Amino acid sequence: MSHALKTLPGTDEAPWQEFDPEAYFQHYYGEPHPDDDTLTYLAARALRAAQTNPGRDLDIIDVGTGPSLIPLLAALPVATRLTAWEYAAPNLRWLHNEITSPPLRPQWQHFWRQVKAAHSSDSDGMSPLLPHDPLPLLTQRVRIVRGSIFDLPRHAYDAATMFFCAESITSCPAEFESALGAFLATVRPGGIIAAAFLAGSSGYAVSGRRYPAVKLDAKQIQNALKSRLATIAITPIGISPKEVRSGYTGAIFVSGKTRA
Ligand SMILES: C[S@@+](CC[C@H](N)C(=O)[O-])C[C@H]1O[C@@H](n2cnc3c(N)ncnc32)[C@H](O)[C@@H]1O
Repeated sequence: MSHALKTLPGTDEAPWQEFDPEAYFQHYYGEPHPDDDTLTYLAARALRAAQTNPGRDLDIIDVGTGPSLIPLLAALPVATRLTAWEYAAPNLRWLHNEITSPPLRPQWQHFWRQVKAAHSSDSDGMSPLLPHDPLPLLTQRVRIVRGSIFDLPRHAYDAATMFFCAESITSCPAEFESALGAFLATVRPGGIIAAAFLAGSSGYAVSGRRYPAVKLDAKQIQNALKSRLATIAITPIGISPKEVRSGYTGAIFVSGKTRA
């Protein structure tokens, strides 16, 4: 994509083009945390439920993918096509390398086991046969697109995931609301969303650079979403009074169906 990427007027743009994806990966996912296991499992379950028509695979987007394969892995069993929509050039390069260079890191193999568990916990005989190594499928199905959340196409996807993006790119509540609206609008009416938000964060540091966040609790997230979704389920995860990682004291997982 060569057009200028949109941000809202008045925003103090964070230093995204200096973002250090490997430092972020090592800090947040180097040693898999049980909260991320839960998020991976819940996202895989939500997306599995999106496949109401067995055999009809879905066109799914992940927004603000950054240096994480978790949402892509969670969507992989039910997605025909998976779009990783990311804004920062260093993250685009890192992602390309991550999904095309074997072997897949042990951390992603770990999260893939959560995805497999999410698909094997039903005795409905509908579980897809999932490979031991998801990398060939990732390479085949994921397309990486440079884009801003504010440029997402409307009603274009069957389902959308977003982990720590709309609230983690700005400290401005109005800009968060606008990013959230763009995320919801990219899903076709009656489609599925699965998203994770930072709980109570005032921002985070990556390689000594500060990145912003809007400080949110479960109630605020519910209020921001409930009028825009036909169904909604909210799960607070691991909320603790102390930081577990930079800017992270817990997460809020949301899944739901957009209005038909
Ligand atoms: C806190 S990181 C989250 C990364 C990853 N999804 C995760 O779960 O760890 C925020 C991500 O949003 C991306 N980002 C920043 N501005 C954006 C924008 N305007 N549109 C889309 N993504 C953006 C950043 O490059 C970064 O990858």
